[in-house]
Amino acid sequence: VSRLPLIAGNWKMNLDHLQAVAFVQKLHWTLKDAKHEEDSVEVAVFPPFTDIRTVQTLLDADKIAFALGGQDLSTKDSGAYTGEISGAFLKQLDCRYVIIGHSERREYHAETDEVVAAKVEAALRHGLAPVICVGETAEDLEKHGAAAVPVAQLEVALDGVASDADVVVAYEPVWAIGSGQAATPQQAQDVCAKLREVVAAKLGAEAAERTRILYGGSVKSGNIAGFMREPDVDGALVGGASLVTDEFAAIIRYQK
Ligand code: G3H
Repeated sequence: VSRLPLIAGNWKMNLDHLQAVAFVQKLHWTLKDAKHEEDSVEVAVFPPFTDIRTVQTLLDADKIAFALGGQDLSTKDSGAYTGEISGAFLKQLDCRYVIIGHSERREYHAETDEVVAAKVEAALRHGLAPVICVGETAEDLEKHGAAAVPVAQLEVALDGVASDADVVVAYEPVWAIGSGQAATPQQAQDVCAKLREVVAAKLGAEAAERTRILYGGSVKSGNIAGFMREPDVDGALVGGASLVTDEFAAIIRYQK
């Protein structure tokens, strides 16, 4: 299996544009000083919308090889939708990715599986790779076990998606997000393997082989290597630890 690992930093509603510049520059130099090999892992950052232009300009000017992504997008392409952001706008800012269906969007913005599916379609329409987030709450875990809810969420999200589509899946148990209580590598592996079966059933075996499935939820420099050793975990979606330069750099350099 030769899937390029992806370490993604979801900044959530953190870092204003000045902090964003300082952060990206420091991360870049920290990795350079450590002689980090750029081709060994793809690094992506997901700033707030208002920082994306600034970060894009910086990546471009300093030839920094981080990929850029939005944290959400509209199901619509343009029009009278106050406050919404079109995938077309993200694409124009050189975004490669967009996070879709993060549990915080599902919880605080009532995003249903159907809305998530419409956003996945919108992302693909604009040439963005959706990072489709799925995961069970503590209550789901107790009632249905770990895999049932994320599997069902992914099945809906991939409805109607073409077999050659470039998608990323992020398994984020809600109980592990921001709690300091990460899943074990084995728990992550078990669910990620089931999610890969969903990709195979919906998009075919070739897609399942190439699609990257990330684990997210209290990932830190101290636990990343354990996740990355699992055959079906191809990277991480990092929240809190992606805001601390040395910590995020250490996560990116998990092989060292
Ligand atoms: O998108 C990232 C996840 O919500 C994980 O957040 O690393 O702060 O637990 P966390």
